[in-house]
Amino acid sequence: MNISIIGTGYVGLVTGALFAEKGHNVLCIENNKKKLEKLQKREVPFYEPGLQELVTKNTQRLKFSEKISEGVKHAQAIFVAVGTPALATGEPDMTYIEHVATEIAHNLKDYRLIIEKSTVPVHTSEKIHAIMKRFSPPDVHFEVASNPEFLREGQALEDAFNPDRIVLGVPSTKAQKILTDVYKDFDAPFIITNVNSAEIIKHAANSFLAMKISYINAVANICELSNANIKEVAEGIGLDKRIGKHFLNAGVGYGGSCFPKDVDAFVNISRDLGYDFKLLEEVQNINRDQKKRLVKKIKKHLWVIKNKVIAIWGLSFKPNTDDMREAPALDIIKELKRSQAKIQIFDPKAIQKAREILELPADESHTAALKETLMEVELYDNQYKATENADCLIILTEWDEFKTLNFEVLKQKMNQHIIIDGRNIYNSQELEKQGFIYESVGR
Ligand code: UGA
Repeated sequence: MNISIIGTGYVGLVTGALFAEKGHNVLCIENNKKKLEKLQKREVPFYEPGLQELVTKNTQRLKFSEKISEGVKHAQAIFVAVGTPALATGEPDMTYIEHVATEIAHNLKDYRLIIEKSTVPVHTSEKIHAIMKRFSPPDVHFEVASNPEFLREGQALEDAFNPDRIVLGVPSTKAQKILTDVYKDFDAPFIITNVNSAEIIKHAANSFLAMKISYINAVANICELSNANIKEVAEGIGLDKRIGKHFLNAGVGYGGSCFPKDVDAFVNISRDLGYDFKLLEEVQNINRDQKKRLVKKIKKHLWVIKNKVIAIWGLSFKPNTDDMREAPALDIIKELKRSQAKIQIFDPKAIQKAREILELPADESHTAALKETLMEVELYDNQYKATENADCLIILTEWDEFKTLNFEVLKQKMNQHIIIDGRNIYNSQELEKQGFIYESVGR
């Protein structure tokens, strides 16, 4: 089939590469010139394991263009995967979706199925439909469907090739046929719903997962107060199939471009619909507190933070990605900077990205806040160099390379032997035996 995808962020580019690998002819539309140039040279602009190889391999079936008009011409099925970042109000910014809908409408000549791939509030399809009706020729038929994406960064290809389910929110049997043809080579259950249900499924799924993390973090806090061990507790509850063992890792809280934004959006959507989703507000409170608790642990051991050297391992919001959006590390860095600590950071992938962000011009407003947070912190390319003269080492991302420690090097480099582990990756007894003061989460 011919397929067009508008937007080449994580979701758009992974989906494009996936469909091309499955044999479809895919045209991806990207309006950012710098990004487009890179993609046309087959350079993936962010780090995602295996994606570069897939994009290079599928040169024939995966093409890129700047023009939405070409996307509209290329295919009957047009996936919209542009960003819906959070506004200061907590609502998602629908500017890009509106722009794309209007552009598609202006270029419509025959029937097209517009498929929402971005995470959008319920009723977005109706809004897209209304705006397209206003700007398209009166005799041209089109429909809007929803096909939410559930892939995780860092394991996007694995998730995209082996989804737990494929949700198709469709307005008609014609739309259903087009979408089931797109996915005919996938071995996964199809959930066919109306469009509103599909839109809700995405927000409900992400909010549920965020709730699971905040729940286990709250239980971890109880474990700290009662001398219990959260790893044992998580195992004890997770083996109950109704609860499930995944997403029960206590830590410094969830981050990323999805959970914080989507929980916020779902609270707002619910409020607009007349329902006060207090449960999710508490999920957000627990997540905020989790980062403050980690800073308190540092203060407990160091007493005075001013002028102390704090080494941080882990800047990305999770391992296997260079994405720092809403990473717990950023809030912790801000807090430590307020207390005038000297901060030295290492991350296997995000350091490079952090340097690029620091070099961006001041008017790149979408990175301005991130840039400010990263200013006046030392960025290191070597894990152990970042611990030079450190009074405390904190672990904020569970990268594999952090999991085994060279105790001799650490002891020789660090000024005080204190480790605060926000991801529970070390064995407490072993670290204490090695002479470290060690604190983790819920143990
Ligand atoms: C999340 C969802 O898991 C995907 O299904 C969804 O498609 C995606 O959002 C999206 O909406 O695009 P992602 O944000 O890439 O995926 O990452 P996750 O693996 O879900 O992790 C999110 C955060 O939760 C990370 O900061 C991670 O460290 C934290 N987490 C996760 C925990 O603290 N504990 C856990 O047990 C699991």
